[in-house]
Amino acid sequence: MAKIVGISGSLRRGSYNSALLRAAVELAPKGLTIEIATIRGIPLYDGDVEAEQGLPEAVQVLKEQIVSADGVLLVTPEYNNSIPGVFKNAIDWLSRPPADIPRVFRGRPVGLMGATPGHWGTVLAHNAWLPVLRTLGAMAWSGPRVQVADAEKVFGADGRLLDPAVREMVAKYLVGFAQFVERVRRYA
Ligand code: FNR
Repeated sequence: MAKIVGISGSLRRGSYNSALLRAAVELAPKGLTIEIATIRGIPLYDGDVEAEQGLPEAVQVLKEQIVSADGVLLVTPEYNNSIPGVFKNAIDWLSRPPADIPRVFRGRPVGLMGATPGHWGTVLAHNAWLPVLRTLGAMAWSGPRVQVADAEKVFGADGRLLDPAVREMVAKYLVGFAQFVERVRRYA
């Protein structure tokens, strides 16, 4: 039984990416639990705040959620063909202090999904995450991608993932990611 932490990179109430994460929870295969965590409450990174007060509580909470999980699922919007600032900011805080990076990220399986109303399905945000994950020593899962385009046609007004083909894509991705997490656990 593996547990992963899922994080949406959007703070928006009607976020497609948060909706995609909820769909992932619903579609996770037997043996895989996805716990939803949040970047809400994480302030902008400020080295003075870190030096004077240490890590903000929201960062500490998220860090320990990641440490206690077998893997992480990042559900990423795409802003200006890259990672949204709020999401990158959260990861930057999580990488502090650098001595803690091995405990939080090194060797940890990380999956990526993303949704956009645009036609390219967050492909460039996905690409932008790769050097970040590489730098942190995380193990990015590179199975079939979940890059959801034309999101307004795929999700209902209540945020439920309706499109059967996309539901199947998410379910298949999670089967592969769960196997990857198990393999990493076995050989760790
Ligand atoms: C966007 N959006 C966007 N979409 C995309 O596919 N490629 C892009 O480069 C961008 N760039 C971009 C920049 C900024 C500043 C904003 C606010 C938005 C649109 C984006 O995909 C859309 O707002 C999504 O709805 C954001 O994800 P959530 O909040 O629905 O999860």
